[in-house]
Amino acid sequence: MDFRSILEARRDGGRNSLDDLRVLADGAAKELIPDYQLSAWLMAAYLNPLDADETAWLTMAMAESGDRVDLTGLPKPWVDKHSTGGVGDKTSIVLIPLLAACGLTVVKMSGRGLGITGGTVDKLSSIPGFRLDLTPDELKDQAQRIGLALTGQTPNLAPADKVLYALRDATATVGSIPLIVSSILSKKLAGGAETVVLDVKCGRGAFMPTLDRARLLAASLSTTGAKCGLKTRIAISDMNQPLGRSVGNALEVREAIRVLQGEQGRFTNLCIELAGLVLEASGLAPDQVSGREVAARTLESGLAALKAREWFAAQGATIDVLAFPDALPRAKFSQSVLFDGPSGWVQTIDAETIGKTVVAIGGGRRTKTDSILLGVGLELDVEVGSPVARGSVLCTVHAESEQEAVWAAQQARGAFTLSETPIQPFDAFIEAV
Ligand code: URA
Repeated sequence: MDFRSILEARRDGGRNSLDDLRVLADGAAKELIPDYQLSAWLMAAYLNPLDADETAWLTMAMAESGDRVDLTGLPKPWVDKHSTGGVGDKTSIVLIPLLAACGLTVVKMSGRGLGITGGTVDKLSSIPGFRLDLTPDELKDQAQRIGLALTGQTPNLAPADKVLYALRDATATVGSIPLIVSSILSKKLAGGAETVVLDVKCGRGAFMPTLDRARLLAASLSTTGAKCGLKTRIAISDMNQPLGRSVGNALEVREAIRVLQGEQGRFTNLCIELAGLVLEASGLAPDQVSGREVAARTLESGLAALKAREWFAAQGATIDVLAFPDALPRAKFSQSVLFDGPSGWVQTIDAETIGKTVVAIGGGRRTKTDSILLGVGLELDVEVGSPVARGSVLCTVHAESEQEAVWAAQQARGAFTLSETPIQPFDAFIEAV
């Protein structure tokens, strides 16, 4: 087929058929279609968005463009969980053992971080010995034995997405909702998922800057999932301020461990809300409220922490980081940011500025080949709504050189705005769709 006819239809406001989209996905995966034609199609698809059927067809075509992981036979119910990504989002590290401790089987393929949104694979790589290269058989076997397993993406999973995603990044077409949906769900389908709980992040530190856009993305994920035979349950959660008290790979693992061991707060509440939703979606709870109660009790009982210890050991951890969190990497220098004004309340903490600052000192990647520094990052002492007085610590930056620590502290200070009147704190969980 001449790819120009597929391009012409998209350019002229028409539609592409399932066959057209199979040609596109297969041609992208096998590098048979040149980047200039794929880029032209992506821009045309950005301007003339795919409709609901086309989005589902593209999703299935991309899922079929490489290997499919077969997870049938796992103890039911089994679920996958996915977040659209945000600053300080270490939810999976709490949620996976929590759900397994509640009786679910959880299998997850996670990505590395790119840009300001960190990746679970990078975070977990700060645990000495932790393996993130499980084969599909090892993944399935471990999930069968202990109820949970997580690995990095297998190289040939939805390869069309790898090619298209890189081109979207380079052609300013990342923000198209049908393209985001097919990118996310094709990997879930290829990874063998049946039920997926998706956490759509919304705000300055996320892909979807506003609640309206987040709702559109959530609705499209749900419709496309149904058309592709995937059961989805979707939450929308806030990403205007960083999630939790830490941003940076090892720092986030430490925080996840504290939450598993009983630390309370806004981030813990989000984990419990999401767990409630998963328990409802998988039929282990009649509704989200009962699911939430089960999750809160399981966290409190210490069973989720025990499950995390079992998980880390099963994937090769050489040190029990729940007992010895100081075995996790830590940067050499730290610098606190003190509040220098009169007393007030924290009004905003700009997640984007915090995310960019952490990336700049080595905590994230600017390009796919960058290496990262696992111990660097930032710990927040306050959240939106916290009262502050002159001299209060707003946050502490951890960096590998004194100069970077001082620079990052100055940058981080710019993320905070203060109010002279009280500010109401708000939950991270916004709504379920
Ligand atoms: N995550 C993905 O996997 N793809 C997108 O397009 C956006 C977020």
